[in-house]
Amino acid sequence: MTHELTASRLASASSNATASGGWWRDAVIYQVYVRSFADSDGDGFGDLRGVRERLPHLARLGVDAVWLTPFYVSPQADGGYDVADYRAVDPLFGDLSDADALVDSAHALGLRVIVDVVPNHTSEQHPWFREALAGVPGARDLYHFRPGRGPGGAEPPNDWKSVFGGPAWSRTPDGEWYLHLFAPEQPDLNWEHPEVAEEFASVLRFWLDLGIDGFRVDVAHGMVKAPGLPDIGHGAQATLIGTEPLPFFDQDGVHEILRSWRRLLDSYEGPRIGVAEAWAPTSERLALYVRPDELHQAFNFRFLNCPWDPAAMRKVIDESLAATSSVGAPTTWVLSNHDVVRHVTRYGGGERGLARARAAALLMLALPGSAYVYQGEELGLPEVLDLPDSVRQDPAFARGEGQDGLRDGCRVPIPWSGGEAPYDFGDGGSWLPQPADWGGLSVAAQTGDPHSTLELYRAALELRRALPGLGAPDAGPPTWLSAPKDVLLFTRPGFACTLNTRPAVLELPSPGRPVLSSSPVETDGRTVRLPPDSCTWWAL
Ligand code: BGC
Repeated sequence: MTHELTASRLASASSNATASGGWWRDAVIYQVYVRSFADSDGDGFGDLRGVRERLPHLARLGVDAVWLTPFYVSPQADGGYDVADYRAVDPLFGDLSDADALVDSAHALGLRVIVDVVPNHTSEQHPWFREALAGVPGARDLYHFRPGRGPGGAEPPNDWKSVFGGPAWSRTPDGEWYLHLFAPEQPDLNWEHPEVAEEFASVLRFWLDLGIDGFRVDVAHGMVKAPGLPDIGHGAQATLIGTEPLPFFDQDGVHEILRSWRRLLDSYEGPRIGVAEAWAPTSERLALYVRPDELHQAFNFRFLNCPWDPAAMRKVIDESLAATSSVGAPTTWVLSNHDVVRHVTRYGGGERGLARARAAALLMLALPGSAYVYQGEELGLPEVLDLPDSVRQDPAFARGEGQDGLRDGCRVPIPWSGGEAPYDFGDGGSWLPQPADWGGLSVAAQTGDPHSTLELYRAALELRRALPGLGAPDAGPPTWLSAPKDVLLFTRPGFACTLNTRPAVLELPSPGRPVLSSSPVETDGRTVRLPPDSCTWWAL
């Protein structure tokens, strides 16, 4: 089942950073949330065959790679981020031959394939955890089992809270407690145990041998816990994305693990890459994850979290670029993913939210480095805010006090064509109900409409390939030019970008010849009227 990646196939489709040392350095990577992308067998859940059938959409969109969220055997307590067998495909999504065929077809279209690996925790149904619960000698050492505190050990061993709400500890029938930074169905592994490291090296090899081009490492900052599992002290809610140093995130020991993974990745013909889903209190600490001997990329969630404020955006852009360039890595940019409210809605929703989302996409794609596009953002999909509680599957919602009870609303299956749900997502409904007014947002409805968000993304990605100044991290950081309040104006080689964050038209001297805009610009060649909440690309 090993795939030979013919260099020429991918080289021809790869973008302009290939020449300067690595396809990932300016790659646009499309996140496929597998259960919500395309359903080939009518069970209401997206699957690998569905992804494979829809790959031409991604090739036409113009992305370089696809990141597939977990499709491994799992009880689905957390959308597949609770893995029971790391080497097998869950029947919900197909089988190994579907994964194999998908990788093959993607490569034939010039698309690379990145898969998720979930090393911080397993499913409670993983054989190791079942053995641990069954009392098999030594099995508990692979996890964090501890006696409780207080009379009868009835209190959790420390004050850590789960990211999804409630204590980060659950008690077994025999009275011991085990640690789970996420849901109780996701027990945390003990990475001090050599068997854990050996097993994951073998899992990585399994998928690399199948031909995948890299891994997105889930909770890469969480694998190592501070010695002694100390209390935080003030009982604060743990958050996945925060600025507070925490005894279970961003411990120095994670870097040794990730370095050993880099050596493993480098032992394959490639380059095969590792992308850290990591959160660190500062950009400088985040940059440690992408040192030359560590992973290739880390998600830059500061950009995603940045408000619609030009000064804040400029600060995040400058600081992100400075931190990663200090270690020679490309920066990544991301606006949405399966864990956050879609950015159309974060930016205010409605027409204004959409205008800003389109502008933010052009800003992101004009910056040096690699960009991530979450399925459906190329259609301008908003968050679905009115899902009935009865259909929600996010464990954070069920646990009540999680920091984010809204992750189902960004996971609603995407519309492909037709005027009624499921909009050709499949022919058997969809696991989350789609809004009745999504027909006009479908891929088919937007194709060929020059004002559509889909055509804007297609045009932007085509230009990004054609204009070497765009994206390429080695072409240097943006040069900021003075601009009216509320406007960002920067140049890169042969190219300028304006962002008007004001909800009003703004006039300024024309920076060049407009080549693409998120809303129509008016220019007489000397002055330009920038539309409200818009981004424009200019050839110099
Ligand atoms: C994933 C989430 C998941 C969590 C636990 C995250 O970072 O993106 O979807 O719930 O890790 O695995």
